[in-house]
Amino acid sequence: RALTIGLIPGDGIGKEVIPAGRRVLEALPASLGLKFDFIDLKAGWETFEQTGVALPEETVQTLSSCNGGLFGAVSSPTTAVKGYSSPIVALRKRLALYANVRPVKSVATAAKPIDMVIVRENTEDLYVKEEKTYDTPEGKVAEAIKRISERASTNIATIAGEIALRRQKIRASGAPSIHKGPLVTVTHKSNVLSQTDGLFRTAAKAALADPRFSSVAVEEQIVDSMVYKLFRQPEAYDVIVAPNLYGDILSDGAAALVGSLGLVPSANVGKTFALGEPCHGSAPDIQGQGISNPIATIRSAALMLEFLDEEEAAAKIYAAVDANLEEGKLLSPDLGGTAKTEEVVQDILRRL
Ligand code: NAI
Ligand code: MG
Repeated sequence: RALTIGLIPGDGIGKEVIPAGRRVLEALPASLGLKFDFIDLKAGWETFEQTGVALPEETVQTLSSCNGGLFGAVSSPTTAVKGYSSPIVALRKRLALYANVRPVKSVATAAKPIDMVIVRENTEDLYVKEEKTYDTPEGKVAEAIKRISERASTNIATIAGEIALRRQKIRASGAPSIHKGPLVTVTHKSNVLSQTDGLFRTAAKAALADPRFSSVAVEEQIVDSMVYKLFRQPEAYDVIVAPNLYGDILSDGAAALVGSLGLVPSANVGKTFALGEPCHGSAPDIQGQGISNPIATIRSAALMLEFLDEEEAAAKIYAAVDANLEEGKLLSPDLGGTAKTEEVVQDILRRL
């Protein structure tokens, strides 16, 4: 099978980790019958500085003709810059990548066993970015729209249910697991936001009540107590589904539990396309030193393959990464080691 993969390194350490993802894909055994064509694409702050656009139209068009893609990270200014808008947020919308799937798994790097997937709605909530500021006699007031639709909530809960079933199937095939049965935890704050989060809650629960998911246990958790329980008892969670903002925050928190943002992958998933993306940003504090952890990106490449129905190839990559972590000899500084990015990549390639 020939797969065309668009590569968007972006800014900062994105340029260091995306080549690692590419090399791992290229090193997959020929017996899998996969052939990759890579296309380099531009987006991000540097692109904006050079061309005045953060997300060139050509990038969107080319990517939409690819089977999948890998996105590194982009640097975004913390205050508004005229004409600049985050390309990843725009890409998720343009390519209808409605789910952001973030597996968080501990392999010899965490105090407690953790094996969960956070499924984050990717197109709406506060990320519609409809904000305004206005003057009042008491001073400035700023407002943002939080938009939740029944359709997006149903879609995201459905994909969460499907992921829970897929994980159960993998466990049933004998893979060791800390979980007994499939569980989806619906996270919201409908006690305060009864309309928006209330709609998310009702639509998600209705979608998960489908007979297809009869073997999946469904529970709900208010987002603040979700954070508390996630930190106290991370081993209890299997699949967590959440609106956009809560999902963003929960997954960075979960990344801290497994030891480093440099370990946690994600995939932006649509009906026929998957864009792998490490959960971390462009990490300007370590950029250019050759010490960024490539594992989040390598795992993102595997996750992309999973959603392109290449589960066997994905499993090979996960196993090579797990073996590197279990041995623990070549770890990057974020994990307490001294290995350079290149040494970690070499070790994983050797194991592949
Ligand atoms: P960050 O994720 O870039 O860095 C947070 C901390 O984690 C830093 O200390 C960094 O050195 C460390 N870290 C992150 N990835 C690592 C890796 N692979 N290996 C080793 N250490 C790693 O988040 P921060 O500092 O808040 O943001 C930096 C820039 O990245 C900002 O411009 C921000 O807008 C952007 N950003 C972009 C994202 C994206 O493109 N999806 C996501 C998050 C932030
Ligand atoms: Mg984030």
